[in-house]
Amino acid sequence: MATRNQSLKSYNTLGVEASSDLFIKLKSEEELVSMIREKNLSANKVMILGGGSNVLFIQDFEGTIIHPEMNSITAKNIDANNVLVVCDAGVEWDKFVEYCVENNYGGVENLSNIPGDIGAAPIQNIGAYGVEAKDTIESVRAIDLNSGDVRIFKNNECGFAYRQSIFKEEYKGRYLISSVAFKLSRNPENFKLSYGSVKERVLKKGSPCLKTVRETIIEIRKEKLPEPDLLGNAGSFFKNPIISAKHFAGLQRSFSDMPYYPADKGLIKIPAAWLIEKCGWKGYRQGDAGVHINQALVIVNYGNASGKEIFRLSEEIIESVIKKFDIRLEREVNVI
Ligand code: FAD
Ligand code: EPU
Repeated sequence: MATRNQSLKSYNTLGVEASSDLFIKLKSEEELVSMIREKNLSANKVMILGGGSNVLFIQDFEGTIIHPEMNSITAKNIDANNVLVVCDAGVEWDKFVEYCVENNYGGVENLSNIPGDIGAAPIQNIGAYGVEAKDTIESVRAIDLNSGDVRIFKNNECGFAYRQSIFKEEYKGRYLISSVAFKLSRNPENFKLSYGSVKERVLKKGSPCLKTVRETIIEIRKEKLPEPDLLGNAGSFFKNPIISAKHFAGLQRSFSDMPYYPADKGLIKIPAAWLIEKCGWKGYRQGDAGVHINQALVIVNYGNASGKEIFRLSEEIIESVIKKFDIRLEREVNVI
C-alpha cells in the first residue's frame, strides 16, 4: 500500500513533524524486488523506516520511505543445544524477545523492551545490559536496493562493533534487511547478570531463568527511560565515547569521580550521560526540546519541538562537552 505526502509524526518516537513524498508498507520481498527491477525505485531516493525509534527527521524526506511489514517467525532446531529462529524485518523486536522467553530460547532476554523492529537490530547492533544483538545473530538477509539481488551476510561479514555495523557505514542506504536469523540456546543457563544491579534484583525473584531476567530488565528500563508514547524520545541520543588511556588519565586528574569502563584494545568507555550532566544539561528545556530529568543521555520532545530544534540542542551539547572534556560525542540517532 502506498500513500503520498505521508506525515511521519506517528512514525518516529521523537514525535517530530516531517513528511515523505511516498510511503510504502511493504508486505513481501517479491514486491520490493519487482519495484526495483521495474525501475520504480531508485536507491538514492529510498529510506527504510522500521519503528522510527532511532531517527531524527530534520526535514521532509524527498523520496520514498519503505516500511517493512513482513512479520513471520520460524524456528528450527539445529541440534540438542541450539535453535535457529528466523524473524522477518517487520516483527517488533520485543515481540521476538517475548517469543524466545516463552519458548525457553536463551540469548536475547537482556535485550528486553528495546523499541523498534527486527530489521533495524543489526544496523547499530543493538545492545543493553551486557548483551549485544551480534552475540546471537547468525546471519542477515538483505535485498540490494540497486539490483534487487538477495545477499546473505554471515555474522562475521556484518562489521559488528559497539553501536556499529557495515550497514551503517560502507553499505549505508544500500540494502533493505528483510529478515534476521538468530542462533539461540535451547538449554539456557549461563545468564549475563553482571551489569549494575541486575544480579541482585534477579536473585530477589528466585533462581535466575529467562522469565525473571526479562522481568527485571523491563523493570529497570521502566525506571530509567521515558516511555515514547508519553514523552517523545529516541533512547540514548549519543553513543558512549571511547577514548585512549592517555586521554582518560589526563581527565582523571581534573575529574577524579569520572565513571569509566574498560573497552577493547586498552581503550576506555565513558558514560556520555555523566559528561552531559556535568555540563549542566540534565533537566534543561529550550521550548519543547529538552534533556531528560533522570537520564542526561536522552533528548526529549515535550510536544511540538521540530527536528531542527532538537538537532540544534544536540549541537550545543556536543560543543559544551568538547569544551569541558575535549571529547566529541557522536550521535547514535540517525539524522535524516
Ligand atoms: P528506525 O528508527 O526505524 O531506523 C533506524 C535506522 O535503521 C535507520 O537508519 C533506518 O533507515 C535503518 N533501518 C530500519 N529498518 C531497516 C531495514 N529493515 N533495513 C535496512 N535499514 C533499516 N537501542 C539500543 O541499542 N539499546 C537500547 O537499550 C535502546 N533503548 C531504547 C529505548 C528507547 C525508549 C528508545 C526510544 C530507543 C532505544 N534504543 C535502544 C534505540 C532503538 O530502539 C534501536 O536502535 C532500534 O533498533 C531501532 O529500531 P527501529 O525499527 O525503530 O529503527
Ligand atoms: N549517568 C549519569 N547521569 C545520568 C545517567 C547516567 O551520570 O543522568 C552515568 C552513571 O554513572 C551510570 C552510567 O552513566 O552508572 C551509565 O548509565 P546507564 O546504566 O543508564 O547506561 P547508559 O550508558 O546511559 C547505555 C546504553 C543504553 C542501554 C543501557 C543499558 C548507549 C549509548 N546507551 O546507556 O542504550 O539501554 O546502557 O545497557 O550505549 C540506546 O542505545 O538507545 C540505549 C538506551
